[in-house]
Amino acid sequence: MAFFTHRVSRSFSSSAVRSVVIKNVMVIGGGQMGAGIAQVAASTGHSVTLVDMSEDILKKSVKGIEGSLKRVVKKKFADKPEAGEEFVQKILQNVSICTDPAAAVPSSDLVLEAIVENLKVKQDLFSRLDKLAPA
Ligand SMILES: NC(=O)c1ccc[n+]([C@@H]2O[C@H](COP(=O)([O-])OP(=O)(O)OC[C@H]3O[C@@H](n4cnc5c(N)ncnc54)[C@H](O)[C@@H]3O)[C@@H](O)[C@H]2O)c1
Repeated sequence: MAFFTHRVSRSFSSSAVRSVVIKNVMVIGGGQMGAGIAQVAASTGHSVTLVDMSEDILKKSVKGIEGSLKRVVKKKFADKPEAGEEFVQKILQNVSICTDPAAAVPSSDLVLEAIVENLKVKQDLFSRLDKLAPA
């Protein structure tokens, strides 16, 4: 898995510390890793676009995230089911799905790659992303 960022603030201090504001996160690959990353990003208030090869895969990914959140709810909201449902829906609202990375890259502050462990496929994806991402 690898990642890169763009649209970071250009304000560098003398110590070269960068200020980065990340709101829109794109996660490419909705498998075990990607769905988990998307869940964490959505749970921390980020707007997440989850990208994979087909809508069917993505729907399964979102179902998986929902199931995982419901397991959290069972422990965290055992005696408050309505609050638990609200918790799940609020996080799921932060997740949208998309089969075309080109549609989401320009508006993403952070792009994370979690696709199949195949170097050629990863290189092809990164070469496409390099062309789409702002400088
Ligand atoms: N699962 C782990 O515990 C683990 C741990 C560390 C690192 N990783 C790494 O994370 C990456 C993902 O692992 P995983 O377990 O989630 O795999 P996975 O097989 O569960 O999911 C990979 C997903 O990528 C999608 N995909 C493949 N090519 C794509 C493309 N060109 N564009 C968009 N989506 C594409 C597949 O449809 C699939 O849904 C791999 O590189 C893996 O080595 C996994």
